[in-house]
Parts: sequence; structure tokens; C-alpha cells
Amino acid sequence: MTCQGVQAQILGVGSYVPEKVLSNKDLEQMVDTNDEWITSRTGIKERRIAAENQASSDLGAEAGKIAVKNAGISPEDIDLIIVATSTPDMYFPSTACLIQDKLGCTNAAAFDLAAGCTGFIYAMVAAEQFIKSGTARYALVIGAEVLSRIVNWEDRSTCVLFGDGAGAVVLGAGPEGEGIIASHLAAEGSGSQLLTLPCSGSRISSNEEAAANKAYISMQGREVFKFAVRVMEEGTKKVLEKAGLSKEDVNLVIPHQANIRIIEHYAKKMKIPKEKIVANVDKYGNTSAASIPLALDEALQQGRIKPGYDILMIGFGAGLTWGAAVVRWA
Ligand code: UT7
Repeated sequence: MTCQGVQAQILGVGSYVPEKVLSNKDLEQMVDTNDEWITSRTGIKERRIAAENQASSDLGAEAGKIAVKNAGISPEDIDLIIVATSTPDMYFPSTACLIQDKLGCTNAAAFDLAAGCTGFIYAMVAAEQFIKSGTARYALVIGAEVLSRIVNWEDRSTCVLFGDGAGAVVLGAGPEGEGIIASHLAAEGSGSQLLTLPCSGSRISSNEEAAANKAYISMQGREVFKFAVRVMEEGTKKVLEKAGLSKEDVNLVIPHQANIRIIEHYAKKMKIPKEKIVANVDKYGNTSAASIPLALDEALQQGRIKPGYDILMIGFGAGLTWGAAVVRWA
């Protein structure tokens, strides 16, 4: 059942990054790398690192608090919290429940969602269904990650890429033709081995094995790169078709921030002018599920988003997964 004429709108946005900055120069002291390699291969100059006492629920709660305030509602108004994360505080309770408590969203159902770096798009589209069906009046969607805890700081091929942060949106009902006007979610489990967190779940056969291994991000970078450029193009075409828009109609693109070369390759292939693309990977690195809402908040604060704009958000990541949404800004 869907409520006739109802569409899910973004009513408020918020983001939070930890204070500590880790620059490429700092990394030069830690592993055999250099600023030139990191900058030319990824576009990343620095990333944020959570304090020892911070976990994903802390970052997510900060971002969520701002989004709720900006939506002009109170925490008790939230009916649903979905947290997209690959770095929950722990397996259970869910990070969403921890955030529900931190924010005082006492009337909200809460759950986590795992879709790698596509997590925010998946979570936003999931929440959209609750809004459209009338099951929830207001939903808080958060992408929050403390990837610094699952990075092997001795592996130069991965440790230079990731950072910590959180971004959030509040969704609520709006009139037809505004808000999320189209979405496309996809998965390709056959590519799951390309990006994994081994030794992190029930695929461990014994307590001894668990104790002997540390769960670190494992990635076949080149293969993931190829996958990313393929599905960003495919996802864009699919979602624009559903929205009934051409790529020229899009006012702003907010892609997942993994690597500036992926973003530039995409822009060139799709013939989308650079000015229409939001990129802040230089400041935060890859913050996985947090990257799109973090970039959305930055674009909003920079005045790059105006009422009536058609905004394309597109993500890809572990799973493998990818997803896109077109939001007509109200
Ligand atoms: O959000 C999840 C999705 N993840 C992604 O989108 C990541 C996609 N992949 C990428 O962005 C790129 O593949 C990377 C940035 C991860 C790697 O860039 P690349 O151009 O594919 O480099 P490579 O892995 O092929 O490595 C090239 C060389 C190697 O040396 P040799 O074998 O050519 O001598 C590496 O050992 O660069 C070396 N290398 C480094 N050198 C200095 C790898 N990491 C580093 C480093 N510093 N940090």
C-alpha cells in the first residue's frame, strides 16, 4: 500500500567528522608511501580519524542530531532510524538502537543495514518505502563509519584510502514530484571476494581462529576500480530512465567518494561537466556509507543546492552493491 500522491523528501541534513586529521605526510611516517603517490592515484590529501573513545554510534548520533534539528522536528517525532554501516559499534545491539538512545528518539524503530559503501543509498531507499506507505512519518537515515578500526595500518595499499565520519538525513512526506523521484538498487554477489572483511563473522571456525586473526579490510583495488566505473555508468543510465530525465537535466551529482580518478573517469565518460560533480575525497578519503551524506551536507552548506534542483546520488561498494537515487530538492 502506498499513500496516494506522497513522496519522500529530505527535510534536514547533518554531518560530523572527528577532529583528528591524518595527512598524507603523517602516513609517510607510518608506511612506505608518499604524498605524490596517494594524491596522483586517489586524490586524497587527508582523512579524519576517530578518537579512542569514539565509535560509529557517536559519530552517527552527532550527524543525526544536526539533521533532526535542521528538519525542524524533535527526536520524539522520528518513527524510524536506519543506520548504514560496515563498522557497527558491535554486532549487537545495532548501532541504530544505540543512536536511538543517544538522541532520545523514543518512538523510533531502529535497525542497521549493511550494503558496504552503497549503504546510505540502500538505507535511504528503504526508509523511503516506510514514508510512502505511511508506516513512518519521519525517518532518520544515517551513514556512519569508523573505518580506522578495521584498516591494517601496516598495509599501504589500503590504509591510505579510508577515513572516519558520518552523515545523516531526515526523510518525511512531501507532495508528488518532489523529493526522491527515482531510485535503482543492485547487487552482484558473485564479486563478493573483491572487497571483504575476513575473520569478522561466523565464517570463523573456532574461538582460537578468531583470537589468532584480526579483521582488516581486504581489497582487490584494480578490480574494484573497474567495477566502480562500470556500475556508475550503468546505475546513472537506469535511474535517469526511471526518473524520465536526461543527464543534461541533472543539476548536481553526488557520487560515492572513493577515488577522484573514478569520479573523473565517470564525468568524462558520461560527459557531465566537473562543476556539476561534488567531490571532497581530498579532505576525508573514503568514508564508505558516510561519504554521500557527508558530501551532500557540504554541497548544501556551500550553497550548491537550490530548490527544484535534480540531484543524482550514486554509490558502489562491497557486496558487491551499487545504487542510485534522484532527489528533486524541495
Ligand atoms: O569504496 C569501496 C570501493 N573501493 C574503491 O573504489 C577502490 C578502487 N580502487 C582504487 O581506487 C585503486 O585501485 C587504488 C587506489 C586502490 C590503487 O591504485 P592503482 O592505480 O590500482 O594501483 P595498484 O594497486 O595497481 O598499485 C600500483 C603500484 C604497486 O606497485 P608495483 O607492483 O607496480 O611495483 C603497489 O605496490 O603502487 C604500489 N602501491 C603504493 N605505492 C605507494 C600501492 N599502494 C601504495 C601506496 N604508496 N600507498
